[in-house]
Amino acid sequence: MNVLLAGGAGYIGSHTCVELIQAGHSVIVADNYSNSCPEAIRRVEEITGTSIKTYDADVCAAQAVEQIFSENEIDAVIHFAGLKAVGESCEKPLLYYRNNIDSTLTLLEAMHRHHVTRFIFSSSATVYGTPEEVPLVETMPTGSPTNPYGWTKLMMEQILTDTQRANPQMSIVILRYFNPIGAHKSGRIGEDPNGIPNNLMPYITQVAAGRLPELGVFGDDYPTPDGTGVRDYIHVVDLAKGHVKAIDYSADHTGAEIINLGTGTGYSVLEIVKTFERVNHLTIPYVIKPRRAGDIAECYANAEKAAKVLGWKAELGLDEMCFDSWNWQSNNVNGYK
Ligand code: NAD
Ligand code: UD1
Repeated sequence: MNVLLAGGAGYIGSHTCVELIQAGHSVIVADNYSNSCPEAIRRVEEITGTSIKTYDADVCAAQAVEQIFSENEIDAVIHFAGLKAVGESCEKPLLYYRNNIDSTLTLLEAMHRHHVTRFIFSSSATVYGTPEEVPLVETMPTGSPTNPYGWTKLMMEQILTDTQRANPQMSIVILRYFNPIGAHKSGRIGEDPNGIPNNLMPYITQVAAGRLPELGVFGDDYPTPDGTGVRDYIHVVDLAKGHVKAIDYSADHTGAEIINLGTGTGYSVLEIVKTFERVNHLTIPYVIKPRRAGDIAECYANAEKAAKVLGWKAELGLDEMCFDSWNWQSNNVNGYK
């Protein structure tokens, strides 16, 4: 199977490249490197011992995307190419709406012209908004995202559902990711955010690496067992394997399926810090700070649909997530640079 990965040089895309290749698929990567670098793909080639066809292309640009579809026999598309910084999306909403929605429309139009019917989309648990109850089930109503990034995901879920309804031969799998952390066992690829990290695990690893002085824990007065926020952290390699399952599934199913990719277990910020310290024999200095605007107390998945529909279940635990995150960061103190 030839799979086009839009945004395939990024954190989740690079890990998915590895798993797809190891499952026997061929991958083609299109990325404009706005939040990644070609070195990530070079390292995927090193891990897999294969050479990867890549396009330095903005997938919002119809001409560039047309060229990719003309030059390759593409069987399926996985669309990772989005901007994802919540705070930045509040400052630059037009950039986010333009990039995230245009890229989706441009890819779908090219697929239509070239009779490609299989599309896997990176959505997010953020579409549930402020949940009334946990665990989150796909059939629960979506909420009101607190930021433009979240709105782009919700809007794209609607666009994709409408597109599949009008083209019943299509197979669209909308994957709602929970909180991916960890890195490939080799320590050669991992998460490499630009600037100061927004997300918890890269912040912790950069404190551990001495790049940042201490972690700020955003709130210890939530209605959770230790007062800190609870999330469903999932190893990025498990998440990548979920895409391989979604690709297989899309071969002989049509429809638009929304599927959570999470472990089904929630951990608090302090549990993450303690586990990271224990498995890596390190101390992470932290201070309690006020709650971060837009944060919710608890968010974790009901992961039954993924098991039933895709035959997929997360296998790696929190110890491995913390170990592999640090293995990546300690071997690449400045990321890919
Ligand atoms: P990432 O930033 O590491 O990867 C995204 C990739 O897309 C980058 O390589 C970037 O250069 C590329 N890109 C962005 N716009 C592009 C464009 N117009 N044309 C070509 N390439 C473009 O992010 P990630 O963590 O790997 O996330 C992948 C997807 O999953 C994103 O859509 C993100 O919103 C979604 N998601 C991520 C998380 C998370 O916690 N990482 C959670 C939920 C959903
Ligand atoms: C965030 C985004 C979400 C996005 C997801 C993946 C917000 C409000 N939400 O989710 O839309 O889909 O990332 O990119 O930004 N924490 C700290 N200190 C830190 C960083 C985080 O205490 O320095 C806490 C947070 O308050 C939260 C937990 O750690 O309780 C996880 O935070 P984070 O990694 O940013 O993920 P989410 O907030 O779940």
